[in-house]
Amino acid sequence: MNALVINGPNLNLLGIREPDIYGSQNYATLERICQEAGAQLGFEQVEVFQSNHEGVIIDKIQEAMGSFDGIVINPAAYTHTSVGILDALKAVQIPAVEIHISDVDARESFRQVSYAGMACFARVTGEGLDGYAHALQLLKEHLEA
Ligand code: DQA
Repeated sequence: MNALVINGPNLNLLGIREPDIYGSQNYATLERICQEAGAQLGFEQVEVFQSNHEGVIIDKIQEAMGSFDGIVINPAAYTHTSVGILDALKAVQIPAVEIHISDVDARESFRQVSYAGMACFARVTGEGLDGYAHALQLLKEHLEA
């Protein structure tokens, strides 16, 4: 089983950006958490990808067809705006889990709309970077069911 973890804009600045909201751990730590959780859960491969560009994220979702069994996605700001990412997830029909580091539902009203989430079977929010391990676990359980 292979999983693709996709991260959207500004997540490369973890540790620097708004640490009161996103914490002090950096993007390398996010990558390590995913790799360790993936190995522990028995995934053969976990690829962790980040882009600040909507079209690049859409390309990555399309390229996942035939290569990955599941997707964990934090579209970051594109969560709340991108019908293109929603359509890509629907098109490839790869089971996907939506993840957010912060508790988006307790923040500004514009963050309470999730387009990508409409194509995901589960959602993890407000668990910090450990939420990625939780999301991979939910993906594993779903793929094995
Ligand atoms: C985020 C929440 C989004 O609203 C925000 O634009 C992000 C990060 C999160 O992980 O909490 O960039 O997706």
